Amino acid sequence: MSSIEKEIERRRTFAIISHPDAGKTTLTEKFLLYGGAINTAGSVKGKANSKYAVSDWMDIEKERGISVTSSVLQFDYNGYCINILDTPGHQDFSEDTYRTLMAADSAVMVIDASKGVEAQTIKLFKVCTMRHIPIFTFINKMDREARDSFDLLDDIETVLGIRTCPMNWPIGSGKRFKGIYDRESSQVSMFQTVAPGGAKSAEETDYDVTDSAFKSKVGDELYNQLIEEVELLDGASDELDLEKVGRGELSPVFFGSALTNFGVEAFLKYFLKMTSSPLPRKSNEGTINPMTEDFSAFVFKIQANMNKSHRDRIAFMRICSGKFDADKEVYHVRSKRKLRLSQPQQLMAQDRKVLKEAYAGDVIGVFDPALFSIGDTICMPGQKFEYEGIPTFAPEHFCRLVQLNSMKRKQFMKGVTEIAQEGAIQLFQDYQLGMSEIIAGVVGTLQFDVLKYRLENEYGCEVRLETLPYGYIRWVKDVTTDLNSLKRLNDVKKVKDMKGNPLLLFNNEWIINMVLDNNEGLELEEFRKN
Ligand code: G4P
Repeated sequence: MSSIEKEIERRRTFAIISHPDAGKTTLTEKFLLYGGAINTAGSVKGKANSKYAVSDWMDIEKERGISVTSSVLQFDYNGYCINILDTPGHQDFSEDTYRTLMAADSAVMVIDASKGVEAQTIKLFKVCTMRHIPIFTFINKMDREARDSFDLLDDIETVLGIRTCPMNWPIGSGKRFKGIYDRESSQVSMFQTVAPGGAKSAEETDYDVTDSAFKSKVGDELYNQLIEEVELLDGASDELDLEKVGRGELSPVFFGSALTNFGVEAFLKYFLKMTSSPLPRKSNEGTINPMTEDFSAFVFKIQANMNKSHRDRIAFMRICSGKFDADKEVYHVRSKRKLRLSQPQQLMAQDRKVLKEAYAGDVIGVFDPALFSIGDTICMPGQKFEYEGIPTFAPEHFCRLVQLNSMKRKQFMKGVTEIAQEGAIQLFQDYQLGMSEIIAGVVGTLQFDVLKYRLENEYGCEVRLETLPYGYIRWVKDVTTDLNSLKRLNDVKKVKDMKGNPLLLFNNEWIINMVLDNNEGLELEEFRKN
C-alpha cells in the first residue's frame, strides 16, 4: 500500500445529525476528548451563542464565525483520522445543513431517549437515505428517565423506515440506570456518574453477565428484566449484516449517556470498525476511485464573511480522491480554468491552520475569488470529469422581497443573485408577473435576517420582507407543464425558478395531495437534481 493509500484508508468522515438538544454537541465534545483534541468539555461552541433568541447582527456574526471554524473537526484516534462534519441546527438550520450531508461518508444519528425520533432528525435522515450512506444510532441521555427501549427501536423503524440492530442494551434508565450490556461480548459495563466536564472517561467496571457479583449489584428485578429482554432481542431483532449497514438499510443502535461519558468510547470503537474509509463517488465519467494519486474534490458549501473589513468568501470542498498538494495547479471544470487553491485551510475545533497537504475524506476551505459555485468539481489538469451535482432542497419559508428604493434595482438584483449563488437562499419569480415579484425561499428563518442585513449593508438596498403563508414547495417534474392548465390551484401559488422551471407553493401536505388527485399525470418533486 502506498503512503497515500495508507492515509486515505485511515480516514473516517461523518456527520452527526439530531434534533436540537438531543446531545450532538455533547457527543462531539466527548469524541474530541477521547481523541485528545480538546482538554475540557464546553470548548466546541458556547451555548449562549448557539441558542440566541433574537437574531441581531452581532449574534449572526458570532454564529457564522462559529460555523466557519467548526465546519469540520479533525482529530486522530487509535490510528484513525476522523473528520466530523458540522450540521448546524437551531435557527441556523439551513440548506447548508443538508448539503454537508452530501460530503459525509456516514452519519451518526443522536436521539434523546426520553423523546424518540423528532422532526429535524426526520428531515436530515431523508437526505442520508437518499444517498444510501450508513447510519449509526446513538440513543442518548440514558441517565435520565427514558422511554421503553423496545418502543424507541420501534419508533426508529416505523417513523424513519430503517431496520435496527441493537449492539448493546441498557439496564434500567434514569435513577435506576445501572449500565449497558454488550451483545457481542456478553459483558456488562456498570454505570458510574462522573463530573460531566473534564473527566476523560468514566471508570467502567466490566462484568460477565453470568457473574453473580453483577447479579447482586443490579438486584433481581433488573437482572431478570435484562435476561428476558436480551432473549427477546436474540430471537426477534435483525442480525448484524454489514452489507445492509453499508447500504443504509440497517442501523446499528447503541445506548449511552454523552454527558456522563458513558458508552461513548464503546460506541466510537464499534463505529470506527464498522464504517468505511472514503468510498468511490459517481461522476459523469463513471465512478472515481478515492485511492489514486490524482486529487479531485467538489464544493459543498460557500461561506461569505459578513465582516465588511474582510469580505472574503471561503469555499469548502470535500476531497474525493488522491492527495491535495498546495503547490500544484488544479483544474476548475466548470470555468475550464487552471488555478492554484489559495490559502487552503484546515479547520480544527476553534483554530484554522494553513495546510500543505490533505487527503481524500478531508475537507478544506479555500479562498474563493467569487469563482466557485456549490457542486463544482475540481480535479487535476488534463482531467475534466464532474461529480454528480448536489440537489437543490425544498425551502420551507418564503417571503416576497419588496425593494424600497426603486433607483437601486441593479444593486438589488446583483445582491440577491450573489447571495443565492452562495446557496444561502433560493430565488423564485411569480409565474405570471416574472421578475417584478421576487420571492426568496429559505430552509431556516435566520437566513431572512442574514439576507436583509447583507442587502442593506453590502449592497446599500433597503428591503421589506413580506412573509408568505406557504411552507411547502414542489418542483413540477415535467418542466414543459403549463401551470395555468392545472386544476384546483385556488390556494396554491405558481412560481418559476430563475431558470424558468415551474414550481408550486402549498400551505400543507393535504393540498399537495388534493392537487395531485385532481391533475392526472402531474408529478411533483421535493428535491431537484442538478
Ligand atoms: P445539541 O447539540 O444536540 O443541541 O445538544 P447539546 O449537546 O447541546 O445538549 C443539550 C442539553 O442536553 C445540554 O443541557 C446537555 O448538557 C444535555 N445533555 C447532553 N447529553 C446528555 C446526557 O447524556 N444526559 C443528560 N442528562 N443530559 C445531556 P443544557 O442544560 O441545555 O446545557 P448545558 O447548560 O448543560 O450546557
